[in-house]
Amino acid sequence: MISRALCLAAHPSEKLTTEHLELTDIPLAPLLDGEVLVRNTWLSIDPSIRLRLGESAPSGYLPPLRIGDALVGLALGIVVESRHEDFRPGDLVSHMHGYRDFAVVSAAAGGLGGAGTLTRIDAHDWPQQWYLGPLGSSGLTAYVGLFEVMGIRPSDTVWISAAAGAVGSIATQLAVHHGCTVIASAGSRRKADHLVDALGASSSFDYHDGDVGSLLAQAAPDGIDAYFDNVGGSHFIAALDALNPEGRVVMCGAISTYETSNTLPSNLFQITAKSLSVRGFRAGSFGHLYDRVRSTVGSRLANGTLIHEESIYDGLEHASTALVDLLNGRTTGKTLCRL
Ligand SMILES: NC(=O)c1ccc[n+]([C@@H]2O[C@H](COP(=O)([O-])OP(=O)(O)OC[C@H]3O[C@@H](n4cnc5c(N)ncnc54)[C@H](OP(=O)(O)O)[C@@H]3O)[C@@H](O)[C@H]2O)c1
Repeated sequence: MISRALCLAAHPSEKLTTEHLELTDIPLAPLLDGEVLVRNTWLSIDPSIRLRLGESAPSGYLPPLRIGDALVGLALGIVVESRHEDFRPGDLVSHMHGYRDFAVVSAAAGGLGGAGTLTRIDAHDWPQQWYLGPLGSSGLTAYVGLFEVMGIRPSDTVWISAAAGAVGSIATQLAVHHGCTVIASAGSRRKADHLVDALGASSSFDYHDGDVGSLLAQAAPDGIDAYFDNVGGSHFIAALDALNPEGRVVMCGAISTYETSNTLPSNLFQITAKSLSVRGFRAGSFGHLYDRVRSTVGSRLANGTLIHEESIYDGLEHASTALVDLLNGRTTGKTLCRL
């Protein structure tokens, strides 16, 4: 059997363009015991794949893809054929072989830091793609970052960057619901206004409007107690300067560094001087919390106190545009490709 897949055509040295990716027909091997054949229905478009498209990947992370390799990413699909007793044709499943029409998936294989293991999804009354967004990895990441890693407190003044994106928009609303004063930043005036008007942030700024440190100081004249970092680089530097003593940083991601070389901040001594805690995490290690996240986020989605937005691209032929648009801030909320 043959499937179309989005493959790496050339390693980008800086900005990814659609020319670095190409749709290719790939052969699918016959099913072995323990495997299922899945027809993908929704692809999660995530920034982290960019880390694997260059000639090298950050040490400690997943290895770079080689030219000709199919991209991988979280996806939902319908089981077409099964050689595993726990999965039947017609089951909705999540797995890590996105960016293709069909995939042969082994139930035994973990992947993407634990987030990509083959799992049956009971979508109940929710739109199935929400299991890639607020009820899936994006919701888990926002929840874990705030409640398990940051140890968020109602009295906190919290800054959340890339706050109009998939993780950031949920984190912003959960922090607001928790009683925090939330400062949210994003890459356009329209997004910044939306963060206050629709998501409930106390204040917001467009990081293009000047020096990030000055914009943050204006938004938080008394400093911040915690920072949810989705961006890294200049944003991380600004947070270290603005954090109050005993402040906390959650290093969720560093998208500003994914397409450029990363240099160490020159103000790291602030961590010592102000007794700051800086902690990274991978949401895939917290999969045991999915039920709690789905109950917390799901009840808020149901009663309308949590808004979820999506940027949807139709067809595998548009997955490369979706990824390039995501990396360039042209999408809002969860970015998805519908097959
Ligand atoms: N730790 C984990 O387990 C985990 C899991 C999922 C995601 N993440 C990380 O969480 C972050 C958000 O992921 P997501 O899936 O929710 O993506 P997203 O926020 O929906 O999309 C990424 C956003 O980043 C912003 N951005 C791009 N380049 C930027 C730059 N140079 N400076 C500032 N902002 C920039 C863009 O919005 P603007 O218009 O605001 O620029 C873009 O929309 C990423 O860093 C990702 O790698 C971590």
